[in-house]
Amino acid sequence: AVREGLSMPEEANSARVLFVCLGNICRSPTAQGVFESLAKQAGMANVQADSCGTGDWHVGSAPDSRTTDAAAARGYAIAHLRARQLQSDDFDRFDYILAMDKANLHDVQTMSPRDCRSHVGLFMDFARDRSPAEVPDPYYGGNKGFDQVLNLVEAASAGLILTLKARR
Ligand code: 4NP
Repeated sequence: AVREGLSMPEEANSARVLFVCLGNICRSPTAQGVFESLAKQAGMANVQADSCGTGDWHVGSAPDSRTTDAAAARGYAIAHLRARQLQSDDFDRFDYILAMDKANLHDVQTMSPRDCRSHVGLFMDFARDRSPAEVPDPYYGGNKGFDQVLNLVEAASAGLILTLKARR
């Protein structure tokens, strides 16, 4: 039985996924772009993705140029995205709310309503390989950190797609 009151997507393989990091200019826009691209390649026309930050410092900004450059080098175009902050109605609008690290997850859980029906958890929990538990914040590090974000986000996106495909 479908849980009352929740407008779960009806169609096969459909899901609404929100990726959350701190600033919404590095990790979560990368996750959105990679997941959208891999889902499309996998023939999943019914997934909707978005991203946001727990913080408000970068609201309205495009992704960090180091992030867009690293993503573009692998064929992901994300420069059109604009940062926004997590808001309370996101818990009604998304089936999955996936945090990049444990601090992000804690902040998301603090905002989560008591009767939250979204799956709220760590994005890296969906990776099938021996990936670390978190996508580390690359903002204050060197260029290698941005490539590592892509490696981790690709692994977790592939795993999330397998999960969504197996769901029904
Ligand atoms: P993100 O990276 O959370 O992956 O977007 C950060 C971007 C900006 C800041 C921290 C992390 N900041 O402190 O401004």
